[in-house]
Amino acid sequence: MIIAPSILSADFANLGRDVEMVNLSQADWFHIDVMDGVFVPNISFGFPVIKAIQKYAQKPLDVHLMIVDPDRYIGAVRDCGAEIMNIHQEASTHLHRSIQAIKAAGMKAGVTLNPATPLVMIEEVIEDADVIMLMGVNPGFGGQSFIKGTIEKMRRLREMVSHLDNPPLLEIDGGVNATTAPLLRDAGADVLVAGSYVFSSSDPTATISSLKQL
Ligand code: DX5
Ligand code: ZN
Repeated sequence: MIIAPSILSADFANLGRDVEMVNLSQADWFHIDVMDGVFVPNISFGFPVIKAIQKYAQKPLDVHLMIVDPDRYIGAVRDCGAEIMNIHQEASTHLHRSIQAIKAAGMKAGVTLNPATPLVMIEEVIEDADVIMLMGVNPGFGGQSFIKGTIEKMRRLREMVSHLDNPPLLEIDGGVNATTAPLLRDAGADVLVAGSYVFSSSDPTATISSLKQL
């Protein structure tokens, strides 16, 4: 399992400390949430903050863009040192073109689906994407409760990619905790994003280890 703590739930006034905690933990990636207040009803942070994180991060950055027209920012995300640029299917008019452009910029291309978006919406690009991410909550906020149907959706997604020679990594974001994580693993998830479960726990390093050892 790849574990990606979500910086959205970190203490922004102690960001260096929290980045270092992730560096020293068993986590694999940093998950970084960009929100524009248009695609989602909340605003998080932008490129200067990601650049500051990147300076100290010793693990790949998985940048999740909850913004309209993500194509406009491919160069900016690349310049932040992102390894994975994750865009929403719902925010992209020409998803195939966007995926190719992200790859041409030297990053891995991730496509994210909201809870209400059916899997068929990514069927035609599933071989092009490096990562497919399912939202387990409606994007915009950390700490929301997991939408149960996502387990079955993950199972169907795993089935959809099972015949591919090079299947994309399957990632889940939102509502991951001790109860949902094993169910998601059994359903076929490769990557677990966890925000509040990690950062609100009394020992975030141990919580990351517990996810890693599932
Ligand atoms: C939600 C963000 C998530 C968020 C997850 O819109 O994309 O990455 O940090 O938070 P938790 O793990 O608390 O549900
Ligand atoms: Zn996210």
